[in-house]
Amino acid sequence: MATATVHPNIALVKYWGKRDRDLNLPSTGSLSMTLSDFATTTSVVFGAAQDEVMINGELATGLPASRVLKHLDLIQPDRAPARVVSTNNFPTAAGLASSSSGFAALTLAALKALNIDHTPAQASILARQGSGSASRSIWGGFVEWRRGVKKDGTDSHGLHIAPPDHWKLNMVIAVVDQGQKSVGSTEGMLRTMATSPMYSAWVSSWQKDLDGARQGILDQDLEMVGRAMEASTLKMFATMFTSSPPIRYWRPASVAIQDEVSKLRKAGINCWWTMDAGPNVKVLCEPEDAPAVADALQHHVEDVHTLGVGGHPVVEE
Ligand code: DP6
Repeated sequence: MATATVHPNIALVKYWGKRDRDLNLPSTGSLSMTLSDFATTTSVVFGAAQDEVMINGELATGLPASRVLKHLDLIQPDRAPARVVSTNNFPTAAGLASSSSGFAALTLAALKALNIDHTPAQASILARQGSGSASRSIWGGFVEWRRGVKKDGTDSHGLHIAPPDHWKLNMVIAVVDQGQKSVGSTEGMLRTMATSPMYSAWVSSWQKDLDGARQGILDQDLEMVGRAMEASTLKMFATMFTSSPPIRYWRPASVAIQDEVSKLRKAGINCWWTMDAGPNVKVLCEPEDAPAVADALQHHVEDVHTLGVGGHPVVEE
């Protein structure tokens, strides 16, 4: 038996689209900040009477259960039946990156339970095949996921670019809706790839955003990171809006919060927004500005969380 506690990550430069579906290889590089406080804790025991997956206290069935079991098969094809118990201390599948921490925790707990020696990059490659964003949750702090060029995906894994204590940034999260999203990320990406005329522009223009965000993190230059993050976010959504049928996760409150961030910036508060596959808005700022940002967001939604930069996974036997 082994247990892993892993923080989710939020992409500052986005992953959206796959160059290989079977190996889950991305069409673009991406870069994230690991979140403090929010976490997934997953225990795995091999040698159970039969496979069983519990997610947030309930027996999982259908796709959520089969994705977990398939992931264990990938880690060890001739494995014994397993019992998996996974709990999130934050809303699941609501655009708050639960699949990033979920598949990273499952990977690390299973590797430990099976006593399989591995490097973080090898764990990241396995986690990537469960859910792409999970490749970045193998570390705390700031992580880049290299697009890679190899067909077998061995060069497409996370790279730790700065530790958790490198820069005390805050992410203020406005929960516009904690319900599960209507279109999952995987389905949304596949639809975008198949139907959006903007997709090719997205795939040919990400490198500049990634280089800008990486340099901004290394230099602790929030404006540089913020500009790259908003550019990457808006381009990702442009591909979604122009898919057929369109994918539009934004709600009126999401847009109102984007306007609020512009207003705050005009008032001299250095803050920048991003969104993912859901209506929630995440605002990046320095800790001294976080109370003012959180106050402003609270005019639009009740549920606001101020989180810092999260630490590395913790894995125990
Ligand atoms: C918008 O990692 O959930 O959050 O690999 O298909 O499981 P799959 O997708 P997933 O997609 C995350 C998309 C995103 C952007 C990001 O986290 O980079």
